[in-house]
Amino acid sequence: MSVVNAMTADFLRSAYGGESMAHMRYLIWADVADAEKMPNIGRLFRAIAYAEYAHADNHFRVLKGQVGDFTVPAGAVFGIGKTVDNLQGGIDGELHEIDQMYPVYLETARFQNEKAAEKAFHYALEAEKVHAKLFKEAQNVARDGKDMDVGSIYVCNICGHTETDHLPDQCPICGAKKEAYKEFKA
Ligand SMILES: [Fe+2]
Ligand SMILES: [Fe+2]
Repeated sequence: MSVVNAMTADFLRSAYGGESMAHMRYLIWADVADAEKMPNIGRLFRAIAYAEYAHADNHFRVLKGQVGDFTVPAGAVFGIGKTVDNLQGGIDGELHEIDQMYPVYLETARFQNEKAAEKAFHYALEAEKVHAKLFKEAQNVARDGKDMDVGSIYVCNICGHTETDHLPDQCPICGAKKEAYKEFKA
């Protein structure tokens, strides 16, 4: 399955760009968390970075028929602060995706009957809701200078669903079996 309508294709490219940059900055912020002796928050950033990779991968694959060079405008948060500030950057980025970007992209894909894009946007939108919640939980403890108390973190490699402390039997977003989850070990 690929994409035929120009506007959905533009949105896929922008979402690919946004997810690619989110992936990268979360890895950078993970190193900052490690340096601040918050290895669990570092691990959370790495797990969520992997989920953003899964989103970028989905968008890129839907675009497989759109061969060529493009300049891709995409939203991105910049800056390296303390972990508590970086987590705010994470929250802001995720909320932008949840409240603005993905709902609009999703409705456009639906309107243009782009089934593969619709699925990719739906997966990302639902996974980002979990990410925003996890970053808020992490920030609440980071504010007191503490690390997050969290066991293994599991990420669905199909849709990016992210679960802490226990491996789901089935992904609540995409329905994948538990074998689809990548573990970020405590
Ligand atoms: Fe996310
Ligand atoms: Fe999933």
